[in-house]
Amino acid sequence: MQNLDDVKDGQASESGATMPLLAVVYFSISGTTEKLAHALARGAAGMTEIVLCRIMGDDIVSGRFQNEGLLETLDGADAVAFGSPTYMGGPAAQFKAFADASSDRWSKQAWANKIAAGFTTGACASGDQLHTLSYFSILAAQHGMLWCGLDIPGGEDPSGRNRLGSQLGLATHLVDASLPQSDLSTAEYLGQRLAKMASRNG
Ligand SMILES: Cc1cc2nc3c(=O)[nH]c(=O)nc-3n(C[C@H](O)[C@H](O)[C@H](O)COP(=O)(O)O)c2cc1C
Repeated sequence: MQNLDDVKDGQASESGATMPLLAVVYFSISGTTEKLAHALARGAAGMTEIVLCRIMGDDIVSGRFQNEGLLETLDGADAVAFGSPTYMGGPAAQFKAFADASSDRWSKQAWANKIAAGFTTGACASGDQLHTLSYFSILAAQHGMLWCGLDIPGGEDPSGRNRLGSQLGLATHLVDASLPQSDLSTAEYLGQRLAKMASRNG
């Protein structure tokens, strides 16, 4: 678990009120999804406390996600962003192992009414990223969470945000082996929107 350098754990807002907690739970092998996670956290900074929860291969033992500490962090969050690269048209198996391990929370609806959002990346512009986002939204619905999509109409933003036109969540893809700045800006925007919703919901 990691807090961003520019985000102080336990920080209170200027009014003295405690800020909501945003947990960003994601899997990333080569770092692209991690860049999105960091950009999303930057967008939320100042409005929420932020904890970055990267799912590691070692969290999975004999096929089962075993990091109870990560799940407990989410228990205490007001908002959760789910992130995974799109692998074979869906979330990576490591993310799915985490999701499966949340079933104890599901039976108690322990995460109900938390705000949720999702982000993903892929190698192709139309590499079935929408299926990964759909999965995240269904996971949120199973938990009784409230879904936060993107309110940027694709192709309508002057700065090119929401480049791939998905409003369910953030879909991105690599261009010349790196993420365009507009995708990182969209991630920042989604983080800001999530933080605003979490503040309103508190
Ligand atoms: C096993 C595997 C399956 C993949 N499947 C897809 C896919 O279905 N669609 C797609 O656009 N990209 C696919 N990719 C590409 C990854 O989504 C892409 O490399 C992504 O940037 C990796 O994210 P990371 O840097 O956070 O690990 C796949 C990559 C791997 C290794």
